[in-house]
Amino acid sequence: MDDDLHHDPDGPVLIVGGYGTVGTELTRLAARSWPLLLAGRTPGRGRALANEVGAAVRRWDLDAPEPFSAKPRAVVGTVNDPDDRVLRAALRGGVPYVDITRWTARLQRALALTAVTPPTAPVLLSSGWMGGIGSLVAAALADRVGGAAAAVEIAVRYDLRDRAGADSVEFMDRLGLDYEVTEGGRRRLVTPLSGAGRVTIGGHRTMVARIDTPEQFTLPLALGADTAVTRIGFSTNTSTAALLALKQTGFFRWGRGDRFRSLRRSLLHSPGEGGTALMRVDVRGRNGQRRTAVVRDPAGQAHLTAVGALLGLRRVLGEDGAAASAGASFPESVPEPRLVLWALEEAGVTVTVS
Ligand SMILES: NC(=O)c1ccc[n+]([C@@H]2O[C@H](COP(=O)([O-])OP(=O)(O)OC[C@H]3O[C@@H](n4cnc5c(N)ncnc54)[C@H](OP(=O)(O)O)[C@@H]3O)[C@@H](O)[C@H]2O)c1
Repeated sequence: MDDDLHHDPDGPVLIVGGYGTVGTELTRLAARSWPLLLAGRTPGRGRALANEVGAAVRRWDLDAPEPFSAKPRAVVGTVNDPDDRVLRAALRGGVPYVDITRWTARLQRALALTAVTPPTAPVLLSSGWMGGIGSLVAAALADRVGGAAAAVEIAVRYDLRDRAGADSVEFMDRLGLDYEVTEGGRRRLVTPLSGAGRVTIGGHRTMVARIDTPEQFTLPLALGADTAVTRIGFSTNTSTAALLALKQTGFFRWGRGDRFRSLRRSLLHSPGEGGTALMRVDVRGRNGQRRTAVVRDPAGQAHLTAVGALLGLRRVLGEDGAAASAGASFPESVPEPRLVLWALEEAGVTVTVS
């Protein structure tokens, strides 16, 4: 039997993975606006949070055969959904959907699914860096340089002290796989961790290198950018240098199979207790004007990602000042880019534009 999600405009917002690291942040933010239903494999772990915010919590194991049914007003995926169960159920039931977990290939698969089952509700694929915040800020800056971006460059400073859940390592564990980017209007394949260089991000001179993130696929489509590049570095340049040195040995290529999975994942996942999320977005307009934004969230990357998901929820529910329309979209196609920075500030995120 299939999972059954049936749209109910008065029902709760269903957050799958809603008591995980990002999910908990989103649950606390979203509980101020809507009734919530949290789902995961072990609902007992989410009980205290559910009690804290007055939410319900139920079991839905996306790896187990038992079907799930609910009548939500919207659903947010904050856990990897390898078989697209949440998306398929949302498409079948006409439920507004937001996802923040998909890497580029999985986002493309979601788009293919929307071709097979055309959505009757909004489907927001908001998996770009920090739940689409990088893309939203790029749209806001593009608006300030005349509405069209020729180039978008995003540089991320990943705080090694920050929290990250077990489910997030899969996104990072693709450093042996080349991916396609658009640069100077042409598409080409690049290798993760190539293009290393130093960028000043919020006063920190940070060594960054390429990483595959979905906004490099969506920004050229949605904003018409000829160039979209995202690079990432750790808060300690020696750690980035060590990762780049490991890449030079070819480890991420020859070690990319199952045999080295646990070694790779232990290298990529050693979370801390909490840090600051920091990202720089540079946009060059078609008119040659440039704008830079530095986005800082002292509550860390899980909170910033949750803010991205929250803004996504408002959008698919038609609560961000524009009517929500059925169909797939990306965060950077935001109807009111002028309001983006204001919405981020309101959520405790600092954005400095120069
Ligand atoms: N777009 C971005 O910039 C961005 C940033 C950060 C994170 N993310 C993504 O957000 C996701 C969550 O990351 P996280 O750090 O919050 O991970 P996490 O702390 O491990 O949280 C995962 C949550 O999902 C539940 N879960 C795990 N496996 C499940 C399954 N098979 N079926 C149903 N529920 C399951 C877990 O609870 P149970 O163990 O009880 O099932 C937990 O509540 C990851 O996919 C990550 O890549 C995206």
